[in-house]
Amino acid sequence: MGVPPGNRPTVPRDWFQGVPERYVAGADTRGRQEGRPYPRSQQVIHEISGLDRRGFMVQTTTVDTIGQFVDQTVMIRGWLYSKRSSGKVRFLLIRDGTGTIQAVVVKNEVSPATFALTDTLTQESSLVVSGNVHADARSPGGYELQVSEITVVQVAEDYPITPKEHGPAFLLDHRHLWLRSAKQHAILRIRSQVIEAAREFLNREGFILFDAPILTPAACEGTTTLFETDYFYNEKAYLSQSGQLYAEAGAMAFGKVYTLGPTFRAEKSKTRRHLTEFWMLEPEAAFAELEDILSLAEQLVSHLVHSVLTHKSEELKILGRERSKLESVLSPFPRIRYDDALDLLRQNGIDHEWGEDFGTAEDTLISELFDRPVMITHYPLQTKAFYMKSDSDKPELALCVDVLAPEGYGEIIGGSQREDDYNKLVERLTQHDLPREPFEWYLDLRRYGSVPHSGFGLGIERTVAWICGIRHLREAIPFPRMLQRIYP
Ligand code: 4AD
Ligand code: MG
Repeated sequence: MGVPPGNRPTVPRDWFQGVPERYVAGADTRGRQEGRPYPRSQQVIHEISGLDRRGFMVQTTTVDTIGQFVDQTVMIRGWLYSKRSSGKVRFLLIRDGTGTIQAVVVKNEVSPATFALTDTLTQESSLVVSGNVHADARSPGGYELQVSEITVVQVAEDYPITPKEHGPAFLLDHRHLWLRSAKQHAILRIRSQVIEAAREFLNREGFILFDAPILTPAACEGTTTLFETDYFYNEKAYLSQSGQLYAEAGAMAFGKVYTLGPTFRAEKSKTRRHLTEFWMLEPEAAFAELEDILSLAEQLVSHLVHSVLTHKSEELKILGRERSKLESVLSPFPRIRYDDALDLLRQNGIDHEWGEDFGTAEDTLISELFDRPVMITHYPLQTKAFYMKSDSDKPELALCVDVLAPEGYGEIIGGSQREDDYNKLVERLTQHDLPREPFEWYLDLRRYGSVPHSGFGLGIERTVAWICGIRHLREAIPFPRMLQRIYP
């Protein structure tokens, strides 16, 4: 390139963010470190720098903020999503993680070498492109780049994911690359927004983040789905099914806390609604009864949905998600007692026996009857976890709630008021056949200043799948773990 080394202005280091070290510090014009061999399969065609070919500094930017640079020359770093050519023009669709932009390469406006380069570029080749930003209402993001220069970081090998149809097994085997596709990208950006909005909401409501351990000595949600580990001396340890028991200790210490982290269920079922590793958000509050967490749940869920509607319109559009289906998610949500839900099921052709928990069929039917999430409360105590408090009016019922998302998505939240009486809790442990020693610390919470307290767990992937309108939970997490999937 044109500028003699002595005349070069210094280029700020952060211009190189994300560019491998070998292309930056001390590398020669072909990306070689002094005395090192040329990196294998790396074809560095031009040097990367913050300069254009005349030696002027060029601002590096990202696709999402490129609108600030209309009629200016900028540099974009990313990957080639697709390309097409038409006579003396090449159209490169470049994605940089924040969005995609069309870069237009016109034969007479770039050097012959740069123009020739475009024909060697393969899908997902990494590159740095400088050009002038044009506002163009016809292009997807509203802007286009008139290319003046291209720097190739690597010419990619044949990319396995092509625009043709691939089966789910193939795509899951290539999940590490599939993440780059527009649909997956949109889902995971929405996931990020959901988590950000949840934190924002709970912080505003006075909850503090309280991280629960993953390795635990006891079962929280029954012993049938426990993941056992064999490591601790003379003791069994399990991967956490829920952070709740620890969140209860947190609530007694801080008043209002929430946990957010991975949880594990050795589910032997292969449904589209179950993962073996999933993320759960679990608020827990002292001096709170069932009523209090019903309001908290409906406010939280509406906040999540409206935050996605506000900040992730583009992503919802990519997914073809009907906005009106989400716009109707406003509190209050319908509240139905289990007994009344049985009537509702009967009217719709499902005869469900009292005392049994609802399964997928029941959840799906009920959730299809409403345009917003519905809260089912007061399930039979016998079907629910050992820690739930029973209703003082009807001791056979639990003070609990399941929140079912509409359109047949089913349960996204499970929660309850907790048993705060020491003796009753001891009795419940026995009824559930649970050993006492691993729960001694938990019983302490009922010995030292026990108060009414309540909380719930919101499944992140279930919520994201519903908001995105996707069928299967496996696309709602970067790397899904299921009964038959541990790779990649
Ligand atoms: O209803 P669950 O089992 O409730 C609990 O774990 C309580 N300890 C939570 C609490 O009160 N703090 O699970 C809560 C939510 C479900 O409503 C669902 O959204 C999600 O976690 N969930 C799963 N998501 C994906 N795959 C699975 N196998 C899931 N199991 C539960
Ligand atoms: Mg549940």
